[in-house]
Amino acid sequence: MRIIIVGASGVIGKKLVAAFGKDHEVVTAGSKSGDFQVDIHSPASIEAFYKQVGSFDAVVATAGGAHFGPLTSMTDADFRVGLDSKLMGQVNLVLIGQHYINDKGSFTLTSGSVSAMPIRLGGALTPVNRAIEGFVAGAAIELERGVRINAVSPTLVEDSPQYVPFFPGVEPVSMDAVVRGYQRAVLGPQTGLTIEVW
Ligand SMILES: NC(=O)c1ccc[n+]([C@@H]2O[C@H](COP(=O)([O-])OP(=O)(O)OC[C@H]3O[C@@H](n4cnc5c(N)ncnc54)[C@H](OP(=O)(O)O)[C@@H]3O)[C@@H](O)[C@H]2O)c1
Repeated sequence: MRIIIVGASGVIGKKLVAAFGKDHEVVTAGSKSGDFQVDIHSPASIEAFYKQVGSFDAVVATAGGAHFGPLTSMTDADFRVGLDSKLMGQVNLVLIGQHYINDKGSFTLTSGSVSAMPIRLGGALTPVNRAIEGFVAGAAIELERGVRINAVSPTLVEDSPQYVPFFPGVEPVSMDAVVRGYQRAVLGPQTGLTIEVW
C-alpha cells in the first residue's frame, strides 16, 4: 500500500511513519517537512499536493491545531483557529482527496479524547473533535468506490509529557497503543468509526 501521512514529523506522525514503513510505502508530508509540502489550511495547496503526489491508497492526517485556553477570555477568532485548522484542514484532505484516492482506499483523521472527556481550557477543542468524528460518520455513507474513513481519538500520549498537567488523573497511553489504533483504521475493514485509544 502507498500511505500518505500528513503530519509525519510530529509526535504521533513519526511513530506512524516507522510502523507503517515496515510493510508499506510511506509518503511523508507537512507544511515545512516531509517528502512533500502541503498546507492543510489552504484548499489550493491540498489540491496541488494531491496532483503532485501520484497514486495512493491511504491518507492519515495527524496535523492541525486548535486554540487552548480559558473560556472566560476566548474570542471568536480564538474559536475559529480550530475550525480552520484541525477541522477544515482534515475535512479538506478528504473532500479533495476523495477525487484522487485509489479504489478501496481509506482516510484516517485524528480527533482526541477531549471529544468525549472535556478538560479545562479545552472549550474550543472538544467541539472541533466532535465535528471531526461527526464528519467521519456522515462521510462514510457517501464515499464511493469502496473508500473508507475513520477517526482515531487518542488521549494524552506518553510522548507529550507537557500536557500531563491538563489531564489530571489520566494515564498517558503508550505510543504503541496509538499506533495500533491507526493500524486498525488503515488496515482493518471498518468505516465511519472513531477508534478510541485510552
Ligand atoms: N500529542 C498528543 O498527546 C495528542 C493527543 C490526542 C490528540 N492529538 C492530536 O493529534 C494530532 C497530532 O498531534 P501531535 O502532538 O503529533 O502534533 P505535532 O507534534 O505538533 O505535529 C504536527 C505535525 O503536523 C504538521 N503540520 C503542522 N501544521 C501543518 C499544516 N498547516 N499543514 C500540514 N501539516 C502541518 C507538522 O509538520 P510541519 O512542521 O512540517 O508543518 C507536524 O508534522 C493533533 O491534531 C492533536 O490534536 C495529540
